[in-house]
Amino acid sequence: MHRIYFDNAATTPLDPEVIEVMVQAMRDNFGNPSSIYAEGRTARAAIEQARKQVAHYLGASIGEIFFTSGGTESNNMALKNAVRDLGVRRIISSPIEHHCVLHSLDALKRLGQVEVAFVRLDEKGRVDKEHLAELLQSGEAKTMVSLMHSNNEIGTMIDMEEVSRLCREQGALFHSDTVQTMGYYPFDLSKTPVSFLSGSAHKFYGPKGCGFIYINGDNIIKPFVDGGSQERNMRGGTENIYGILGLAKALSLAYDNLEARRAQTKSVRDYLRQQLDAHFDNLQYNGDPDDGHYKLLSVAFPPSPKADLLLLNLDIAGISVSGGSACSSGADAGSHVIEAMKGDPARKTIRFSFSHHNTKQEVDVVVEKLREILKERHL
Ligand SMILES: Cc1ncc(COP(=O)(O)O)c(C=O)c1O
Repeated sequence: MHRIYFDNAATTPLDPEVIEVMVQAMRDNFGNPSSIYAEGRTARAAIEQARKQVAHYLGASIGEIFFTSGGTESNNMALKNAVRDLGVRRIISSPIEHHCVLHSLDALKRLGQVEVAFVRLDEKGRVDKEHLAELLQSGEAKTMVSLMHSNNEIGTMIDMEEVSRLCREQGALFHSDTVQTMGYYPFDLSKTPVSFLSGSAHKFYGPKGCGFIYINGDNIIKPFVDGGSQERNMRGGTENIYGILGLAKALSLAYDNLEARRAQTKSVRDYLRQQLDAHFDNLQYNGDPDDGHYKLLSVAFPPSPKADLLLLNLDIAGISVSGGSACSSGADAGSHVIEAMKGDPARKTIRFSFSHHNTKQEVDVVVEKLREILKERHL
């Protein structure tokens, strides 16, 4: 059975060209990048070339890019090192950040190291900019703002330039979890200064377990992982060379083909929205479908016993999508994002997220299957 994969915000399939680069490196480039003889030098050169590519696409300096094990590590590193090494004592964030940010903030709070303030969000998850400015103006403590560029469940985005400007005006640092937008939106950090950004290869058709952090050169922090002198002393441990080369290849492909990929992905997403509106009553969209991330559509289906089994029935029908609803029972952990948006717990949220591999024909199949399962208009 041809499965339909509409869960590209969870992870993406590897690009064939990425696999090629990785397999070639596995075969031909096994040296330890820290060794000084030829095999080591070849491996080191490949990693530095990858770093150069990543820096190039972000408008960053080579020395500002550090490879990590993924988005979770990069976000932990930004938050925890800013507190430990840069004197940050207050972090302004939001309740709809990814758990790797929220749980890092909890850990820092438990240690008594930082005060956390949440900025107000509207019903679509958009930041109340006046409140953000107010929070930034209040208090004496050294502050960092940590706001994700695009939410991974509902696709709501922040205006990076505006948040960057507000932070600069108030002398605050700015960290943005850019895991869902890296490779999907252009960045030019020479024009829009940010203190920390994070990227994760498996969200842009690269391998799992490899990511990077951008650390603005003004911020001198100490190692996150103590050990050898890898990653210019910032992260000990022999480098994941295959992952790093795969990441750089995936990011290059993503940025070199950005417009074509965006157009295809967005057209499929917009077509799903149009078809859902044509065939179903009483749907709600979580987040800001008119102005959110073009790869994502989060739909709250009306309450019904059939909706409860929607994910399972779609899976049986060969369709992969994600759930994520407000907590409706003790057993169901629920989605902290939908809950923060005060989503109706009786509705069933399905997150559809797309790639340039998806087609409108696949949307037709999914809508037909949804109609079968939900028998809409009888609800
Ligand atoms: C917004 C966001 N931040 C961070 C992460 C974590 O990234 P990784 O899976 O590379 O640890 C994810 C992945 O689900 C994400 O969507």
